Amino acid sequence: MSTKPRSVETKRASRDLWTGQYGFLMAAIGSAIGLGNIWRFPGVAYTNGGGAFILPYLIALLFVGIPVLFLDYTLGHKYRGSAPLTFRRLNKKAESLGWFQVMVSFIITVYYAVIVAWAMMYAIYSIRLSWGEDTTTFFVADFLQASDGLISFAPVWNILIPLVILWVFVLFVLGRGVSKGVERLNKVFLPLLVVLFVFMVARALFLPGAIEGLNAFFTPDWSALVDPKVWIAAVSQIFFSLSIAFGIMLTYASYLPRKSNLSGTGLVAGFANSSFEILAGIGVFATLGFMANQQGVGISELEGITGVGLSFMTFPAIINQMPGGPLFGVLFFVSLVLAGITSLLSLLQVVSGAFQDKFGYSARKAAVTVGVVAAVVSVALFATTTGLNTLDVVDAFINNVGVVFSAIAMTLLAYFSVPKVRALRKHLNLASAVKVPAIWDWIVGLVTPALLAVMLLQALIDYVTVGYGGWAANSPNVLIFGWGTILLAVVGSVILTKVPWKNSTHDDIIRFRGEED
Ligand code: ALA
Repeated sequence: MSTKPRSVETKRASRDLWTGQYGFLMAAIGSAIGLGNIWRFPGVAYTNGGGAFILPYLIALLFVGIPVLFLDYTLGHKYRGSAPLTFRRLNKKAESLGWFQVMVSFIITVYYAVIVAWAMMYAIYSIRLSWGEDTTTFFVADFLQASDGLISFAPVWNILIPLVILWVFVLFVLGRGVSKGVERLNKVFLPLLVVLFVFMVARALFLPGAIEGLNAFFTPDWSALVDPKVWIAAVSQIFFSLSIAFGIMLTYASYLPRKSNLSGTGLVAGFANSSFEILAGIGVFATLGFMANQQGVGISELEGITGVGLSFMTFPAIINQMPGGPLFGVLFFVSLVLAGITSLLSLLQVVSGAFQDKFGYSARKAAVTVGVVAAVVSVALFATTTGLNTLDVVDAFINNVGVVFSAIAMTLLAYFSVPKVRALRKHLNLASAVKVPAIWDWIVGLVTPALLAVMLLQALIDYVTVGYGGWAANSPNVLIFGWGTILLAVVGSVILTKVPWKNSTHDDIIRFRGEED
């Protein structure tokens, strides 16, 4: 007979769970595969030496990404909570780290949704190639109506309308809860995404010049391996892409049934995500090969191959020249939308789950409360003429400072807290097909935080001395949207930690010290 107090049993029984490992896997892969894979990865790979990037990327996946993914899974599953509840159960003083992760996810949602809204419009524009010949001017001047000021509240209707539609849709799904909302949507969107995307990549491979593109992607440039920036870029990409260290996988794992194969599902999710990412690299580089071929230049001479530029300026230009371009464009941008929505939902679930745990909200109430705030901030800050500048700075600071700091704090806490990391590994291995060896304790508890601390220091030095993206360190853009974002995450987490727990959950916190192994 169970010795657990009744209230704990009741509370756990009422927690909305995935219908099984398959449902969880779909949602976890759906979360991992996102804008990071299609929009961010090819640009990052290109800027960091093309072929040379693959090696650090794979090493970062195996030695940092997968171990931290396992940690996220184990913490969420053992302590059965959203990030604040899980960290509070791990260590009474650590609740604020959970809220910090919630704030990071919240901040990412507000600009992430905007890029999905852009892709929605671009899927429509693809049909008639409405962006015209000069795709850069179209994107910056006509579509975004970008202006240089610090902040403007002048709405851009092209963005505002799809953004509002997107928010209504995702909040509706979120409000239906984990099994009836998030899981069901992923079971439809993820297979659809894979079919569309494979079709698109297959088409790209038959373009003239595709092979040169693939050569650029796969030929290693060994000298890039000695550049620390390449390694930093690889680790950042893995964190963002695997959705680790900012609450997502931890929250998702908290809805898994008790006996779950954590390491097996982690490995499948991790490798599925990276396979998709490399597939995206193949598709994008084959397409760039076509562009270089048309211009009679080498791949390395192409311009504008960065995150935003690649998807919304370079790709439309290539689509213009391609036979069957409109279909290719629709496939590409619809893939971005599908991938983006499944990841956006996972980011929102971090926030919604935390509010449900702490304040006893229902899924619907949490979706309405947090979702409406996120939607309003997103529309007010990013569907405006200064949205692009703001987005770029917020994205850099929240990922390179916020996520990296959160990962350092989380890994150190897991290593030094009671129970120590060994007990966590015991839990991880309990029902897992692949038994994780003891070396995991060292990798996750010591090597990872040490490596990340170097990365964080490097980013901080850069931002304090040089600034970011052409803005000086003391420019209002860097101060308000860069450091201001980090300050907001810290202040938000302190305040939310101080707000009292709703009574019933608080009882559980006192009594429930994690699943028994
Ligand atoms: N993992 C998500 C992405 O890659 C956040 O976009």
